[in-house]
Amino acid sequence: MKYRTLGKTGFKVSEIGLGCWQLGNDFGPVEEQMAQDILQTAQRHGVNFFDTADVYGGGISEQRIGQWRGELSEKPFIATKVGRNPDLYPSGYSKASVRASLEASARRLGVEAIDLAQLHCVPREVLFAGDILAWMEDLQQEGLIRHFGASVEMIDEAVFAVQHPKVASLQVLFNMFRQDAITELFPIAEQNNVGIIVRLPLASGLLSGKMTLDRQFAETDHRSYNQDGAAFHVGETFNGLPYATGVALANEAQALLPNDMALLDAALRWILDQPQVTSVIAGASSAAQIERNAKASDLAPLDSVLHKQLAQFYQERVREHIRGGI
Ligand SMILES: NC(=O)c1ccc[n+]([C@@H]2O[C@H](COP(=O)([O-])OP(=O)(O)OC[C@H]3O[C@@H](n4cnc5c(N)ncnc54)[C@H](OP(=O)(O)O)[C@@H]3O)[C@@H](O)[C@H]2O)c1
Repeated sequence: MKYRTLGKTGFKVSEIGLGCWQLGNDFGPVEEQMAQDILQTAQRHGVNFFDTADVYGGGISEQRIGQWRGELSEKPFIATKVGRNPDLYPSGYSKASVRASLEASARRLGVEAIDLAQLHCVPREVLFAGDILAWMEDLQQEGLIRHFGASVEMIDEAVFAVQHPKVASLQVLFNMFRQDAITELFPIAEQNNVGIIVRLPLASGLLSGKMTLDRQFAETDHRSYNQDGAAFHVGETFNGLPYATGVALANEAQALLPNDMALLDAALRWILDQPQVTSVIAGASSAAQIERNAKASDLAPLDSVLHKQLAQFYQERVREHIRGGI
């Protein structure tokens, strides 16, 4: 596993991190033992960066991470999020409510100060008003959070957040099927020393190459109930692609690769080949998945011809199908 510095935090995080949404049982029940196996396997393979949120399972994901973290001598870097629980979202934002939310997260995580608190896709007018970033700065000074950043839906929100002098990191939707950030965001993030955390690196699993049209998802899984954005932003599920289109495009992408290269490995490696990316937080529904994903850090970069082909493929075949904006 290789490590990269996460923007202004100065912390060296693993190139492959672990997305912990699934640990809240939001995709379907994850037994306690399975949750522990996923966390332990991640750490054994060099992962030291974990991304969660107060709303994942109503705090269960944070609680599980906190319990596990408490027993470790070498503490990993934990990023959580604030801004989507019903006390705040969509119109209850105040310094007091943000503080109360973060205090609850800190309790569940078992820490005095949160390593990294990210605004969690707050409504764009709330972000652009700027007050919430000023409150985060105050809470950092008070010592409740060590660093703060933002997780956003749209590139214009990212470009706004990145210019705040204290924002340490940005979490964005970015993958082989969503490439615009390379030109529209990464240069300005680099100039501002803001780390890039990549979510949905596998487009909710499409880029694992294993999805088929007859795949059934649990009722509790957003890949069943949010395929068209019924519950939250459509981009968060299959990258905004209609499922059948996504499956077909994944097959086309696989056909562009050398015979011995799996789409999953290419998809993770493609992201890490972008020098401004700090860490890729793939979700994993089993210990075997995070073990496999961790290996992407040690794979050779894709060659430049393939990078060009994948850029062209995105522009000509994928981009027009993305719903919800970019
Ligand atoms: N608004 C936000 O801030 C926000 C929104 C969404 C996500 N996130 C963060 O981003 C993280 C990742 O998002 P995500 O899990 O939705 O998307 P993802 O990482 O693109 O996809 C994860 C899915 O890909 C499949 N997968 C992963 N590794 C695999 C492997 N080695 N082999 C085969 N399949 C594999 C699994 O599907 P199966 O379950 O079908 O096996 C897994 O559930 C979340 O955990 C969360 O921390 C943040």
